[in-house]
Amino acid sequence: MMNTVITIDGPAASGKSSVARILAQRLGYIYVNTGNMYRAMTWAVLQTGIDPNDMDTVRSTAEGILIDSPVADGQTQVSVNGRRLTAEDLNSDPVNRGVSLVARVPEVRARLVADQRALSSLGPLVMEGRDIGSVVFPDSPLKFYIDASEEVRAARRQAQGHTDQVAERDRLDSTRKASPLVIPEGAVVIDNSHLTLEGAVQAVLDRLPAIP
Ligand code: C5P
Repeated sequence: MMNTVITIDGPAASGKSSVARILAQRLGYIYVNTGNMYRAMTWAVLQTGIDPNDMDTVRSTAEGILIDSPVADGQTQVSVNGRRLTAEDLNSDPVNRGVSLVARVPEVRARLVADQRALSSLGPLVMEGRDIGSVVFPDSPLKFYIDASEEVRAARRQAQGHTDQVAERDRLDSTRKASPLVIPEGAVVIDNSHLTLEGAVQAVLDRLPAIP
């Protein structure tokens, strides 16, 4: 039997990662940040010096890159060809700028989606990203979409010290051909523009049916 998967999707800086992490801790589920898998692939692609705008070269370069997601401390980590990446690696400005370009390549997505599905054999999951409820686990009955106004999201990114253009990343993520960001069918939408972290976690918990 497949383990329970709570899916959490939403645009950049909507606060979904913090909500997903705390929710997973409360429930004793494994927390999976799929954005970090795309970021790891982007980090590795950029290491080769290629232009991330060039889809064909990204596609062929990505083929030779091995992304692994071992679980430690209740959440997946990411390693590239055996090297564990740090938060600094994953959140650098070049990765912020390049990740939506790498994530739009269908072959990159197909591989990472297969890895994400395989993680559900490890135990119950809270998995967050852009296409988790729509593509990765469309049959999950526990889907959430966490949104926040563009102003609030831009301010959050700035407070975290990031200079990338959230709006541009969202534009690319929402308009790409392969698995664009959408509100998944059946998802509960939570507007996180004015909620505290605890309030947002509670909003999700309030909508969960009694689950084992
Ligand atoms: O969640 P985070 O903002 O770290 O994701 C970084 C980028 O990875 C997104 O802007 C998107 O381009 C890509 N992504 C994706 N599908 C996912 C998770 C992230 O395309 N499931």
